[in-house]
Amino acid sequence: MQQQSSSLRVGVIGLGYGGEMALKGYSQLPNVEIVALAGLEEEKLHTLGMTYSIPHLYRYHHELLSRDDLDAVSVCVPNYLHASITIEALGRGMHVLCEKPLARTSEEAEAMVEAATKANRVLQVVFNHRVRGDVQVLKRYADEGKLGNVYYAKASWMRRRGIPGAGTWFVSKEKAGGGPLIDLGVHVLDMALYLLGEPEILTVSASTYAELGKHGKGIDPRAQKSGSGNAFEVEDLATAFLRLSNGATLLLEASWATHSSASDDLGVTLYGTDGGADLHVKNHGWQDTLDIYTDVAGVTAAIHPQAPKGEGHITVVREFVQTITEGNWSLHNGSEGLRRVRVIDACYASALQGREVVLQESK
Ligand SMILES: NC(=O)c1ccc[n+]([C@@H]2O[C@H](COP(=O)([O-])OP(=O)(O)OC[C@H]3O[C@@H](n4cnc5c(N)ncnc54)[C@H](O)[C@@H]3O)[C@@H](O)[C@H]2O)c1
Repeated sequence: MQQQSSSLRVGVIGLGYGGEMALKGYSQLPNVEIVALAGLEEEKLHTLGMTYSIPHLYRYHHELLSRDDLDAVSVCVPNYLHASITIEALGRGMHVLCEKPLARTSEEAEAMVEAATKANRVLQVVFNHRVRGDVQVLKRYADEGKLGNVYYAKASWMRRRGIPGAGTWFVSKEKAGGGPLIDLGVHVLDMALYLLGEPEILTVSASTYAELGKHGKGIDPRAQKSGSGNAFEVEDLATAFLRLSNGATLLLEASWATHSSASDDLGVTLYGTDGGADLHVKNHGWQDTLDIYTDVAGVTAAIHPQAPKGEGHITVVREFVQTITEGNWSLHNGSEGLRRVRVIDACYASALQGREVVLQESK
């Protein structure tokens, strides 16, 4: 890698939602130059190239990675490509911002963290929901100790009809690593662990179900992802009970499709000794999403903080660039993303074995 100018030279791989959000984020930052973009859809590649004035466009990731003038790259491709592309980029001296989940399995994620550590480069995962305004307000409130000891929590993302297309990479076990648990569950797991202050997870007991998708039910009618056939190889609902080392427990649930009142609903509920909080987001809204419960002068009280919207991916990209320019790279080697993948992995192992799994055991 050659440092050719004072600005950070970045590349983006992938033209889907993840790729577009990365482009949007980088394009808003001073001292960042989007030098290259790669993706398989030729027309979209050129449209995005024009929109963001990107000088070098490629079809395949390895063509982009063979450039010797990139400081950082965003990896926004299907999950099965996260590990190989990230490890190649780190090996070539680039910092990597990888879309969630970090990888399909713990083994892949461990290899990625090892590669980041060896290369002494930043490896960060896009957890864009934790930077929501309401999550940030709740995080500050919890960190101030206002909830007391949080002994029980729930994290959930449930959809009514949200399977992202039949036959797409999202519903391929091989390509995605799993269904809504690894796709949506990883986001709310991240939010909960972040809010709880990164507790250690001891055991998980999980079940997965594929009751709708494999019968062609619950497909998002607006799904635009391409795929062939009707294959549906993953769960459409997962539920898990996690025991944490501080004695607290966390209930995690994720589904792309349910016969329920959900539309596209995500949230986290915290139960503490001095207060509780209920974060409930419908259809990606941001207003009136947070309720806090406490006691005031001996009576029950509810507080409704008016949190700002937050900037999602844009904040994540900004923080990634900030870490590269001023941070201690060795502290950002992807291990946080690895911890989430270990939990997801253990959930799938528990569901398969039909019993509680000790987290170390599942490695
Ligand atoms: N953080 C979020 O909110 C969020 C939202 C959606 C998707 N994602 C994540 O982003 C990633 C991509 O998801 P998506 O919805 O954008 O998928 P997508 O299928 O819409 O896009 C994938 C892109 O990868 C490209 N690609 C595949 N193989 C390639 C290769 N060898 N070289 C170059 N490009 C290649 C495809 O051409 C396509 O443009 C996934 O990991 C997903 O979990 C995150």
